[in-house]
Amino acid sequence: MRHYPRTKLAQELATALQGNALFGDAHNGLFLAAPRRTGKSTFLKDDLTPELERQGLIVVYVDLWADQRRDPGELIADAIGRALQSHLGWIAKTAKAAGLESVTLAGALKIDTSKIGRIDGATLGAALCALHEAAGKPVVLIIDEAQHALTSEAGETTMAALKSARDQMNAPGTVNLMIVMSGSDRDKLLRLVNNNSAPFYGSQIQRMPVLGSDFIAHIALLIQQQRPDLLQVDQVTLSQAFERFGHRPQFFFTALNDALSPFASIEGRFESAVAAAAEQRQRDDRAQMESEYLGLKPLERAVLWRMLEQEQRFRPYDAEALRFYHEKTGRKVSAQQAQNALESLRQRNPSLVWKSARSEYAVDDAAMHRWYSECVAAGIWPPMTLAAFRDMATDVAKN
Ligand SMILES: Nc1ncnc2c1ncn2[C@@H]1O[C@H](COP(=O)(O)OP(=O)(O)OP(=O)(O)O)[C@@H](O)[C@H]1O
Ligand SMILES: [Mg+2]
Repeated sequence: MRHYPRTKLAQELATALQGNALFGDAHNGLFLAAPRRTGKSTFLKDDLTPELERQGLIVVYVDLWADQRRDPGELIADAIGRALQSHLGWIAKTAKAAGLESVTLAGALKIDTSKIGRIDGATLGAALCALHEAAGKPVVLIIDEAQHALTSEAGETTMAALKSARDQMNAPGTVNLMIVMSGSDRDKLLRLVNNNSAPFYGSQIQRMPVLGSDFIAHIALLIQQQRPDLLQVDQVTLSQAFERFGHRPQFFFTALNDALSPFASIEGRFESAVAAAAEQRQRDDRAQMESEYLGLKPLERAVLWRMLEQEQRFRPYDAEALRFYHEKTGRKVSAQQAQNALESLRQRNPSLVWKSARSEYAVDDAAMHRWYSECVAAGIWPPMTLAAFRDMATDVAKN
């Protein structure tokens, strides 16, 4: 299915970013969180970027997940370097041809021509300034999966450099550098804004809206155009199914495709088949998390449980935590053992735990928090291993 444009949302954010919303704070940095696979990157690249460009801004987009082997700080610097190169390329060439080692932009900034395209943390601010001067336009830096920047020291330094560049380039009424950061986990993004020493202290994390009823209406229209025999498409059932799919278009499209395929052997309306697939997906998602959890060693399970329960308050080695591990595993647990368990949760593939450069830990996939709360609410936490279930059944039978 082709991209469904989210023009209105892009326009609203573009206005807010430029400081034109009445009371907004987006010009100080826009932080957007939405669950995995719900269309963050697509929106940033295919809706927000063209809208900002249409409004005459220079956009630099970087995805910190694109290459996990590379340091996040380096990825950001590279993206800025590339944009700078494309704008300064001709200046550099002319300067080099003239035997000049550096060029001066707008009488203020001196750029070493041999360094264009190679930016480090220290020159990041200067590079952004140069980009703005060379292009003669405000610059928007979009950092996708920004929480990764906090997993390395270079990444943290970059964030601090960006903050200071923002403060230097912007003034009340003048916004020359806008920063957009997105991530799939609000708790992790929070670490960029939530305390005095956080680089973007004072900013708020916004929940990026997921695709909604207008998207479903668009899909229904497409189906009706191609298959008039299916008129009237039941949008309510499709909306509910999309919600069950966690607002993830990919799974939804696969189910639609299967249900509408000429080879589909479904009885009744296709919407019911899509709804059934959504329910199945929900069950599969839960079963996968449960089996992952049950596959862990007892201490790893206890640590993960504590993390799910405590969320941002999680402190892995305080007395309370050690007592908790003791209670759940039935043996005394040292801080070192808890650390080993945390590390092994982090080393798993896919990793279950995320660690910041300051050794703060969080559950890697925010969906696990939802699963945990649902299990607690339904009174079925913790999940039981088959062996534990058998023991319990034997006990019940005995009494
Ligand atoms: N507006 C849209 N119209 C059609 N398909 C979309 C739209 N937005 C997202 N999708 C589809 O949904 C899937 C996930 O999108 P995307 O990669 O943008 O999500 P994400 O939130 O960035 O995911 P991740 O958490 O993996 O980074 C892709 O297959 C994409 O094509
Ligand atoms: Mg993405």
